[in-house]
Amino acid sequence: MAFDLEGKRVLVTGASSGIGAALAEAFAERGAIVGICARRAGPLEGLLARMHQHSPESRMWSIDLSVLEGLESFAADVRSSLGGLDILVNNAGIPKRRQVTALTPAVVEEVMTINYFSPVRLTLALLPELIRRRGHIVNISSVAARLGPPGEAAYAASKAALTGWSESMQVDLAETGVRVHVVNPGIIDTELFHLPDNDDVPPAIEALPVEAMVQPVLDQLDSGTFEIYVPEWFADVVGRKFPDTGAFLEGTIAWVKESRSKEGG
Ligand SMILES: NC(=O)c1ccc[n+]([C@@H]2O[C@H](COP(=O)([O-])OP(=O)(O)OC[C@H]3O[C@@H](n4cnc5c(N)ncnc54)[C@H](OP(=O)(O)O)[C@@H]3O)[C@@H](O)[C@H]2O)c1
Repeated sequence: MAFDLEGKRVLVTGASSGIGAALAEAFAERGAIVGICARRAGPLEGLLARMHQHSPESRMWSIDLSVLEGLESFAADVRSSLGGLDILVNNAGIPKRRQVTALTPAVVEEVMTINYFSPVRLTLALLPELIRRRGHIVNISSVAARLGPPGEAAYAASKAALTGWSESMQVDLAETGVRVHVVNPGIIDTELFHLPDNDDVPPAIEALPVEAMVQPVLDQLDSGTFEIYVPEWFADVVGRKFPDTGAFLEGTIAWVKESRSKEGG
């Protein structure tokens, strides 16, 4: 049985492109009233126009979610404009592909702010409403939260924080009927790989199209599954890591060395 989105109130952060845009449109097509937000108004307006064909009450906000002080009033606005909230999708995020030796504390804090503190603050502001409606919280984390991706220490830490937060939150909320979900995309073809201020991506793994994210997330809402990986085979890689993390890191170091020597010709 498919998860019934008809009339559900949903907020998707970071919906001006990529995974957030694909999820928001899919929710609207299935009858949900969807709030979308990000900094860039132009792409949000285009998406909202498409969503209005299915869901005329959907709304958009152009907002910088890394300005944490504004998030409580934003949450209140979302709640009253959408007429409540059943599903919060914390998707907005930035990459940081940069070797640890080139990181500064300011960059680490910037990544932590948008990838961790912002979804946490928004979640806390909306939690009473989500408890009241026995809602869902979908945190778009990353395989980077579970593996030790080379050249991504700041990013991996921010996503590991979000995943750890999600695990404990699900335990704390078990009696409330709120379901918490973690989504770990592998490599999905989005703007995230073309943003400035990031190292190049090693051409090791083929990227999936953004549409590949939609059905797994709908299925996850339906089944109540806590954590998923897209593509699924990343779950096996993570499973092989935990019995011996030292050996896993040795293997990753060897893999990076081999990739570099191939790149060097
Ligand atoms: N693509 C992948 O392979 C992959 C893998 C693992 C995890 N993820 C995660 O998936 C999520 C979506 O990323 P994506 O791949 O779809 O990349 P994307 O196309 O770059 O989308 C990122 C979204 O976040 C928004 N955003 C970034 N900073 C923001 C801010 N300060 N305030 C408000 N919105 C902000 C962006 O909108 P504006 O720029 O308009 O603000 C955009 O809508 C991220 O959390 C990312 O870490 C992606």
